[in-house]
Amino acid sequence: MEITSFVTQSLEEIRFWSRIMKEHTFFLSMGFTVDQTQLIQEARYYMDLFERIEEQIRDYNENTDPEVIRQLNVQVYEAAASIWAYKRKVLGLQLRCEIVTNNMPLLVDHTSREAAYFAKRLVELNEGKLKPLPEAIIKENVFFLKIMADHAKFIGHLLDPSERKLVEQARDFSHDFDQLLFQAQDLDHMRPQSETVPLLDQFLDQNRVSVVSLRDFKKTARDLIEACRIKSNIPALLADHVYREADHFLHIIDAFDEHLTSNNS
Ligand SMILES: [Fe+2]
Ligand SMILES: [Fe+2]
Repeated sequence: MEITSFVTQSLEEIRFWSRIMKEHTFFLSMGFTVDQTQLIQEARYYMDLFERIEEQIRDYNENTDPEVIRQLNVQVYEAAASIWAYKRKVLGLQLRCEIVTNNMPLLVDHTSREAAYFAKRLVELNEGKLKPLPEAIIKENVFFLKIMADHAKFIGHLLDPSERKLVEQARDFSHDFDQLLFQAQDLDHMRPQSETVPLLDQFLDQNRVSVVSLRDFKKTARDLIEACRIKSNIPALLADHVYREADHFLHIIDAFDEHLTSNNS
């Protein structure tokens, strides 16, 4: 295992996802009603937990001892697994109609899937799985395409209904990403018959085109929300949050592409 890349990749993932986890708790806590004090307190606990992780690694860099990073990955894994359980608990309460919050169940489920993904990445990093295998590429795409499709649906629901054009655009993105998700599943099903996933590079190119335009749409929405030029229930931080996740997916697509090209040459 290449040590520098293990350290750098671990730190990059932890920096990116810890901020995401911290923001989830902020969104969740804003969605609870005032009487749901216990759940709000738990959300705040996780907000502090991930903020402390961010502070802890502030001075870490590519020269940090790999053993320290290996232990860090285990420590952060515990935090990610624990916030996952909290989010699933909230979802369970919603699905049994024991609580009503302003966070849609799909959004709570979505944030729990991101926590599970983060936890899984930390395990993989410690196992030395730094480079993606073809089957991992398709699975990763299935994961992120669903995330993007969900985002489009959340945006469509949280915009004011009078923002008809934007709502329509969000609906188009939702449809586009649902189709890409099905396509990824089609390819996945064809996989066992072939060493490689058929036409994976073309599929990645198609994904890139859609992710770039969704990312730009989110960026525009974020700028308009910040300037108070559209009506919505979307906090500017949420708009920025989903924008960053699209940008992260684009970097992953680029890394996969690079990996496939270097394997073919
Ligand atoms: Fe998120
Ligand atoms: Fe997300």
